[in-house]
Amino acid sequence: MTTGPATSVERAPAKVNLYLDVLGRRDDGYHELETLFAALSWGDEVRVAVGGDGPPVSLAVEGAPDVPGDETNLAWQAANAFRAAAGDVPPIRIGLTKAVPPGAGLGGGSSDAAAVLRALDALLPGRIGTATLRAIAAALGADVPFFLTGGRAVGRGRGDALEPLAGGTALEVVLILPPFGCRTATVFGAFERLRPAPRDGLAAMRAALAGGDPARVRAAHYNALAFPAMKTHPALLRFTSEVERRLGRPPAMSGSGAALFDVPDAGESASVLDALSDLPGTRVVAEA
Ligand code: C5P
Repeated sequence: MTTGPATSVERAPAKVNLYLDVLGRRDDGYHELETLFAALSWGDEVRVAVGGDGPPVSLAVEGAPDVPGDETNLAWQAANAFRAAAGDVPPIRIGLTKAVPPGAGLGGGSSDAAAVLRALDALLPGRIGTATLRAIAAALGADVPFFLTGGRAVGRGRGDALEPLAGGTALEVVLILPPFGCRTATVFGAFERLRPAPRDGLAAMRAALAGGDPARVRAAHYNALAFPAMKTHPALLRFTSEVERRLGRPPAMSGSGAALFDVPDAGESASVLDALSDLPGTRVVAEA
């Protein structure tokens, strides 16, 4: 009997930013963030196989025709960066089943990349240390280090200086995905022209989360990129206004958009879904 390549299956959860403030612009062109990430119970699936024959890295994507299966995909780049650091790695085959749309601010591509790194670290243990794994993640993108561990964490710096948050009760969120996306660099560019003053609301969000009361979490939510995102994407402004009209409260926005979310009260998610049922796009109920 021959054994096939060693394989690992990883969940690649989406995230929401329950809080996101931009404190200023850094010398490296990125922005200094103060954010609270929460990984969701919903996301993509990543399968990684090491061994056999084939090119050094190959990638097949299912579930999203607009997501490329080539070297522009962050999952491919993650595998290639692992190879470069580890040296002499057998062929790496990646299968990616997408659920998280690109341009949503939910970190789909970043989470896929982190899942590839976790899988390779599990399949080839000890080939590169934790510090190198983290450095590769940070070089791939500002959100990638968060997804190495997931859970809830405060992110500072580019979002990659992480303080994990332990405990807290799970929160239900209703993701409201419009049928279009936002371009992160465009939204940060608009932020530069608007530059709202920092909000200083992180402590209030941490307290709200520790208490686990959805109404307090809704009140503590802030996203400094929401206004720039709507300014540069008028369709998002119209969509958000319509969601607010139907829910009777403003939705939250994740990352640089375009995904919105609501944090319903206990037992309220069915009526939230109902109120949005004929809106374009899709809705997903998940735990954060
Ligand atoms: O690191 P990532 O490729 O995810 O970032 C995408 C873009 O978002 C960057 O090119 C930059 O324009 C912007 N960004 C930023 N400050 C951050 C994170 C992202 O300006 N902390």
